[in-house]
Amino acid sequence: MNLWNVELEGYNKNNIKKYETIFVLANGYKGLRGRLEFSKIGNKGNFLAGIFDKGQAQVTEIVNCQDPLGFNIYIDNELVNMEECSVDSFKRVLNMKEAILSAELVVTTKSGKTVEINSERYVSKSNVHRWASKYEITPKNFSGKVFIENYIDGSVTNSSDDVMNRSKHLSIIQAYDIRPGIALETKTIDKKIGIIELTRLIGENSKGNIFKARRYSKLGEKVVEVYETFMREGTTEVIYKYGTTYTDRDTDEELYYSALEELNNFVLQGYETEKSSHSEAWDEVWKDIDIQIQGDDKAQVGIRFNLFQLAASAYEGDEKVSIAAKALHGEGYKGHVFWDTEVFMLPFFIYTRPKVAKALLMYRYNTLDGARENARLSGYRGARFPWEAADDGTEVTPKWGFDYEGNAVRIWTGDEEFHINSDIAFGITEYFRVTCDEGFLINFGVEMLLDTAKFWESRVEYNEEEDRYEINSVIGPDEFHEHVNNNVFTNYLAKWNIEKAIYFKEWLKRKDENKLKILCNQLCVNEEDFEKWVDISKKIYIPKSEDGTIIEQFQGFFDLDYIPITEYDQNSMPIWPKGVKLDRLGDTQLIKQADVVQLMLVLPEEFSYDIKKANYEYYEKRTMHKSSLSPSMYSILGLAVGDTNNAYKYFIKTVYTDLEDNQGNTDFGLHGASTGGSWQSVVFGFAGLSIGLDGNLKLRPWIPSNWDKLCFGVNWRNSKLQFSIYQDVIEVYSTGENSISVNDRIYKISKNSTVVIKK
Ligand code: BGC
Repeated sequence: MNLWNVELEGYNKNNIKKYETIFVLANGYKGLRGRLEFSKIGNKGNFLAGIFDKGQAQVTEIVNCQDPLGFNIYIDNELVNMEECSVDSFKRVLNMKEAILSAELVVTTKSGKTVEINSERYVSKSNVHRWASKYEITPKNFSGKVFIENYIDGSVTNSSDDVMNRSKHLSIIQAYDIRPGIALETKTIDKKIGIIELTRLIGENSKGNIFKARRYSKLGEKVVEVYETFMREGTTEVIYKYGTTYTDRDTDEELYYSALEELNNFVLQGYETEKSSHSEAWDEVWKDIDIQIQGDDKAQVGIRFNLFQLAASAYEGDEKVSIAAKALHGEGYKGHVFWDTEVFMLPFFIYTRPKVAKALLMYRYNTLDGARENARLSGYRGARFPWEAADDGTEVTPKWGFDYEGNAVRIWTGDEEFHINSDIAFGITEYFRVTCDEGFLINFGVEMLLDTAKFWESRVEYNEEEDRYEINSVIGPDEFHEHVNNNVFTNYLAKWNIEKAIYFKEWLKRKDENKLKILCNQLCVNEEDFEKWVDISKKIYIPKSEDGTIIEQFQGFFDLDYIPITEYDQNSMPIWPKGVKLDRLGDTQLIKQADVVQLMLVLPEEFSYDIKKANYEYYEKRTMHKSSLSPSMYSILGLAVGDTNNAYKYFIKTVYTDLEDNQGNTDFGLHGASTGGSWQSVVFGFAGLSIGLDGNLKLRPWIPSNWDKLCFGVNWRNSKLQFSIYQDVIEVYSTGENSISVNDRIYKISKNSTVVIKK
């Protein structure tokens, strides 16, 4: 078993779309679905970060751009196609170490001609505008004319499988014959963002060019070049396909010339040269992110898949884009960005690739005006980050969708799921705690903290009778319950958000008083607001049980029907208990995902071991895990409170969310939050890494008995730490001087040295 590979053996029509998601190649700028060129089934997907459009769609969504992957082989005039040929052998491999997707297939056409095709593809990490494929074609039992068709398809729509919602976001601007090669330029409907894709085939053998004739044509919205060649039985011919992509977001120059220059240079340097620098770039990434789990191959491959796809989805070169819930892997959730980024994915970047983390936070900063507009439009002040975000920070959550039974329902999350504001504030302070990047905080972070706190000031309601502040009619992380009052996650984090705003306002005053003054003027806040904030933070209502152990998820939760979960499916996911009315979930104590448990992980230092344990046990029995965000959180809290068996089960569920499609919707894109949750499960869960009240790192590991060794690295302030956790020994290497607490004992590590700790 190669622990760096995800492999698919055997052709199966029913898993094509799932593997298209699993086999996405992305570099944070572009995501190309892992489509097999020789199959008609599947969803085309060429997603470019930051390219959004509404057009005739329900809401602004990520644009499925013109598809540059088109590559057909015709033996005489017979198309080599998986659905019509007999498939003699078929294998696809995603090599995660080098970020190369390859395919090996042998097929026989209806007329009995057998051909072997070995192909590979990469989307360059070293130069985000470049991608390429290589095809090795061998006739097994014939010699004859073969046509190779290279095309770019501009007829792509979004929601191609959903007849009522199909929408086209591109108008064709121009097709180009670049001889050799083709190009197709389009523009989005609303903002008229230009997008160009260029491709060129190079087929050469020892005698030079293998092509005998070429025809260029424009077939409707497709631009096509066809080459005629002659292939001999048993002789392999190699064809390279080079591709470049540019959009108006990248350059002020004419797109065609930028992309053409890139293509010419790319071809000149050659497929293999770019492939090497791409692999080297990935090598660097892996040095930062890899986790080794020795003794558990399933966990090893699974965790690497999550790390790979998460790292592939980010691009530090663009501070105006973020990672969508489904990353650049599909149209699910319309390419929108949720709290998934700050709470689930960001910690991975903060600790392993802080530059990316900063870029992700800068996306929120760059969309602050939209967030202010959201607040203003709903009658509040400050900034209200959107529950679902696209390119400008305004709210893009659809108003209507479908429930579990297919009934049309009003979606309230965009109106009520306010905790996103504090989630972003949390991302900012976590980034600062780990990196100490003062410049970020001074120039951008404090502004976001103040403006989100200002929103809470306008959102809370004062209950005179009880002399407390409340936040009513909200949705917490658990989306089964809408319009609830005083969701503890929301209230607790609003309080925390306000407290942090006050704390960092004072901090900024010490660092740069003038900057604070300017900020207060810009945001229209003054001492009166700050006094009010202190009052709110002291008096905000946090529901509790009478004996103080179980925290009531929201006011009235304890009065709802308790319906035990008793059955689980083949993926150990809970099955709806008998008799539950799926349109009345709000009347029950069943919850969609971690909520109180989530709070205990976001603010672990606020809750004692006993409270965590009691709440974990109480809510675990009620959680349906109908969101992929949930299992990783139960795994981490489970490990913290000693439920190790279940914790491992939840961990495996998390890392195999997409590989085993245990939420049943991998076709529509990656579960980005779950990829981040996978990293958190290992690092915060099994290794038990956290930041202590003294500001130092703490480790409290527990690893399953079949794990011989768990290894990973983190960035901590100005040094890099490498942890190796064995069953009875823990080794910590540090590039800088550090103090770290391991199982509650403090160890000093000097520069470039290792401490070895016996458990
Ligand atoms: C979850 C949200 C999540 C969203 C996007 C929903 O099903 O309930 O918490 O942000 O999916 O992943």
